[in-house]
Amino acid sequence: MIVGGVDVGSTQTKAVLMDENRRVLGRGLVSTGANVVRAAEQAFASALGQAGLSEHEAGWVVGTGYGRYRVLFGDEQVTEIGCHARAASWAFPGTRTILDIGGQDTKAIRITPQGEVVEFSMNDKCAAGTGRFLTAAAEVMGLGLDEIGPASLKADKAIRITNVCTVFVESEIMSHLSRGRRMEEILAGVHAAIAGRSAGLMRRVGIEPEVTFTGGVSRNGGMVKAIEDKLGMKINVSPDSQFMGAIGASLYALDRVASGARRMAPVEGRS
Ligand SMILES: Nc1ncnc2c1ncn2[C@@H]1O[C@H](COP(=O)(O)OP(=O)(O)OP(=O)(O)O)[C@@H](O)[C@H]1O
Ligand SMILES: [Mg+2]
Repeated sequence: MIVGGVDVGSTQTKAVLMDENRRVLGRGLVSTGANVVRAAEQAFASALGQAGLSEHEAGWVVGTGYGRYRVLFGDEQVTEIGCHARAASWAFPGTRTILDIGGQDTKAIRITPQGEVVEFSMNDKCAAGTGRFLTAAAEVMGLGLDEIGPASLKADKAIRITNVCTVFVESEIMSHLSRGRRMEEILAGVHAAIAGRSAGLMRRVGIEPEVTFTGGVSRNGGMVKAIEDKLGMKINVSPDSQFMGAIGASLYALDRVASGARRMAPVEGRS
């Protein structure tokens, strides 16, 4: 039996297909943009294409993320907190604390050895310390998102960044650049600032090893190192870290199928 998970995040939409052995068969990743319904469809179609499957082969589809109710072809919705918890345990069974940094939210989650959520904490409405903050820094410097992490790792020291506000950090970076400060050192400061905020959020739920880092920002090696430095411990990062929400949704879907659930309506033509 094949199942699907679709994580419609504020910034990027992720979809995966999974078999009953909890193996990921295909992945899809698109920008969420303004048309959330379409983003979910496109990500799912892309995952199906990669897996060489057609939609009617998916026995149950779970939607998660902020746009989970816009997965119109989905059979059920589950919160992303629960999905990241399930997936982190799937990837690293020793996980007790999860840090998810996405495009707009940062979440700290503490879980039991069985993967049940004990406590979670989330950043307030503002995007300080999230992917948006890094995207803003990359744009000011004219670098790609995949370049800022490696660049930050080249610095011998970090310039202290005092602004946590995504809007004000741009002018702070520009002022450092105009004074001839090295880009790498500014970036090291930006990464350290986010790591500091993330560690604060994690302390609210209690930091218990192992720590697993999920969400798109965990693809940034500079951010992984900055958080490890701040926590003083190694953290887990899966090659599928950005797909963790969608993987968790698929794991929920597998539970449903195991207890006999099947899609009621024919799925052809629904998209
Ligand atoms: N290749 C990459 N290298 C570095 N960072 C990346 C890369 N791809 C994406 N990101 C970061 O990941 C962020 C998106 O992460 P993710 O997909 O987890 O967010 P989301 O689920 O849409 O957001 P949220 O959970 O806040 O609603 C981007 O804003 C960017 O900062
Ligand atoms: Mg997310």
